[in-house]
Amino acid sequence: MREPFRIPRGTVDLTGEELSLVSAVECTARCVFGQFGFAEIRGPLFEETRLFARTTGETSDIVEKEMFTIAREKVSYSLRPEGTPSVVRHYVERSLFANAPFQKFFYAGPMFRYERPQAGRQRQFHQVGVEALGSADPLLDAEVILLQDRFFRALGVDGQEVKINTIGCRDCRPAYRERLLAELRPRSEELCRNCIRRMERNPLRILDCKEEECGAIADGLPLIEDLVCPACTEHHDAVLTALTASGITFSRDPRLVRGLDYYTRTVFETIHPALGARSAICGGGRYDGLVEELGGPATPALGFAVGVEATLLALSHLERTPPLPVRSTDAFVVAVKPDQRPAAFALLKLLRDAGLSADMDYEGRAMKAQMKKAHRAAARFAVLLGPGEVERGTATIRNLEDRSQEEVLLEEVAGRIA
Ligand code: HAM
Repeated sequence: MREPFRIPRGTVDLTGEELSLVSAVECTARCVFGQFGFAEIRGPLFEETRLFARTTGETSDIVEKEMFTIAREKVSYSLRPEGTPSVVRHYVERSLFANAPFQKFFYAGPMFRYERPQAGRQRQFHQVGVEALGSADPLLDAEVILLQDRFFRALGVDGQEVKINTIGCRDCRPAYRERLLAELRPRSEELCRNCIRRMERNPLRILDCKEEECGAIADGLPLIEDLVCPACTEHHDAVLTALTASGITFSRDPRLVRGLDYYTRTVFETIHPALGARSAICGGGRYDGLVEELGGPATPALGFAVGVEATLLALSHLERTPPLPVRSTDAFVVAVKPDQRPAAFALLKLLRDAGLSADMDYEGRAMKAQMKKAHRAAARFAVLLGPGEVERGTATIRNLEDRSQEEVLLEEVAGRIA
């Protein structure tokens, strides 16, 4: 027997209510991100693999083991695991830094990571995110953190917690790195396998490693916020002051480093207790070196991305649904007998041309079953065509709420329903 075809592991076919929920989150993102002055960008779903290696980073889990990679004509491409690299590539490729260096973008769409599927984690998932390039102003860090808070509130998410840290800049991080290595090298055997492997390349990751043995060691390590340079401290203090003044609740987490290689200074994560171990519904931070890394001039930047599935999980835990766009059928056209189907089809076109949402039956159903379909589609009106109506050039409009009905000329039907 032939193997049946199945959907790839870690992916879903979104239909019906599940799709409406994802669309509702994306729709809220468009609205709230737009309100904060961010403009949409839609790039390709894949990029050259070396873009992600250079940005997301060789020591990130994503580049190390989670990329969907395809080689074509000697070029290696990967499905995008995140949106940030494409936005920065666009900024540099179009030389936006030359004429309009300050840019605020948002994006919404699928991302791909070859992860072990679990609650809230898929191999194809959705993110909505923002990136602001061209400013080092700490108020912009505060704006972006406030934006994700506003977005979650618009969706009805609560109970989340925003955690913030600074991880220094390229001037002060090397010294901190060396300090960590000096403490870690003599104890390297006590670390988990992952941390041993990446210790020399990225010792900071030990700080937020979830393995017990690493946690115990991390507890005794010096805190980065105590060792960053005065400029980074000043920036961090200004961000925290602006956030405190705006009334948002957050906590400082000196062990938060995030799993992507490009971050500098501010990093933050929003976690929700409904999600268990992988509890982040949003993550972000500054990446002041990335534009330069891709060949542009030194340009500070920052952003965040929200996990749509993770957010929906938090909402379902709260027994809430995001504000759903109302989709209703204005009219369902019913042919009393098969003879009237051509006339019904012509009327359907008339109604749609008038901008109404209308439908009819294509399954050869009897009139009673067509009426049932009209009710199931939550149509406001059924428009009936029998032999009498066709002869008189009319249709009978039945209001499905109050059951009243009237016969009107065909050319008047759309006007009555609108
Ligand atoms: P990230 O922390 O890798 O950051 O991802 C952001 C969010 O995407 C996570 O908090 C999580 O909710 C969701 N997510 C990640 N992987 C999966 C998965 N396999 N299945 C379902 N949801 C997932 C970034 O992607 C950065 N680009 C954020 C950023 C923008 N930083 C600066 N600008």
